[in-house]
Amino acid sequence: MKKIYIKNSEKNESEILIENELSKKIQDFIDIKNCFLITNTKIAKLYPEILYKFNERKIIIIKDGEKYKNFKTCNHILNKLLEEKIERKNCIVALGGGVIGDMAGYCASIILRGVKLIQIPTTLLAMCDSSIGGKTGYNTSYGKNLIGTFYLADKVLIDPMFLNTLDEFNYKCGLGEIIKYALIEKSCKCEKFYNLEDILTVNQTKDVRNEITEIINCCASLKANVVTMDKKESNLRKILNFGHTYAHAFETYLKYKKISHGEAVSYGIKCANKLSYKLGKIDETYYNKINFLIDKFSLTNKKLKFKKEKIVELMTHDKKVQNEKINLLLPVAPLEVELFDNIDLPLLEASLP
Ligand SMILES: NC(=O)c1ccc[n+]([C@@H]2O[C@H](COP(=O)([O-])OP(=O)(O)OC[C@H]3O[C@@H](n4cnc5c(N)ncnc54)[C@H](O)[C@@H]3O)[C@@H](O)[C@H]2O)c1
Ligand SMILES: [Zn+2]
Repeated sequence: MKKIYIKNSEKNESEILIENELSKKIQDFIDIKNCFLITNTKIAKLYPEILYKFNERKIIIIKDGEKYKNFKTCNHILNKLLEEKIERKNCIVALGGGVIGDMAGYCASIILRGVKLIQIPTTLLAMCDSSIGGKTGYNTSYGKNLIGTFYLADKVLIDPMFLNTLDEFNYKCGLGEIIKYALIEKSCKCEKFYNLEDILTVNQTKDVRNEITEIINCCASLKANVVTMDKKESNLRKILNFGHTYAHAFETYLKYKKISHGEAVSYGIKCANKLSYKLGKIDETYYNKINFLIDKFSLTNKKLKFKKEKIVELMTHDKKVQNEKINLLLPVAPLEVELFDNIDLPLLEASLP
């Protein structure tokens, strides 16, 4: 079993365990009778054997989809928890993708001023990214994840076997976030260097599946390292937002319906790549390589229609904006990104699809 920790000076704050079939023995890692389970209708149907382990009254099943990642759903979860008399000693288990993980994490962080949280991610994106590092929240019409908290899960139990039921589209969405890691690897300041880009570039999609546990290990380690160094995103952690200022604007513009997060990140990386090339920060060879990587997994094939000036407006309202200047991460060298502020708005607009 692979074990990764997010640490603070005195203790391990968050333990990440990765192993095939781990979900079959969750009772060895959590005190199930003390846990509330939050999941969605789709996962409840696919994994009844997991739900069966929990007390029926302590299971909360919500509707499936990014469009339900909102205040109303969180309020519903909080009311259900209170109805069932949740206590400080109880624990919340999030079983699902990033949508469930973010909302269950948010509810765990505020109910009774915080109860323990366990993440059991079931999508590739959640295994590599969203279940790790403690960002929680929900979307509003003003923007993505604008309401939320930093709240580390006590444990993250990653079982790659869940991927056997994940459809091709959502698998690719996870790859979008993995490409992000590949392109920021050197900036993560890790002692160990994985060369994810090589794994992704050399093989075909089919082979990536064979190596997926290793890839999840890499991404989880990279993220845990970065988060350990900067828990509240005052500095280094910002690099994990590569492609995301664009992505969040696309998602908000399309009302969280026509585009998934993984797709939006892929479009975002392509835009940042174009802008960096136009600014002369990278050469043509690396520019083409990044585009090749994204195109290889067909993540930006939708013909999306945007009002460009509206996207720019949304980007300037993103929470990563400071003093009305757009801070944008751009690729600057193979596997390295750098934060630029004061990006010229017409140039930003010209980088959009
Ligand atoms: N907190 C963070 O640090 C962080 C990081 C990245 C992304 N996110 C958030 O994560 C969300 C996207 O996550 P996502 O891509 O996992 O989306 P998701 O949670 O909507 O899952 C995608 C789809 O896959 C289904 N699904 C989940 N597990 C399955 C399985 N094992 N088999 C079959 N189907 C399954 C879901 O029901 C859903 O229909 C976004 O809201 C994004 O903002 C958060
Ligand atoms: Zn993301």
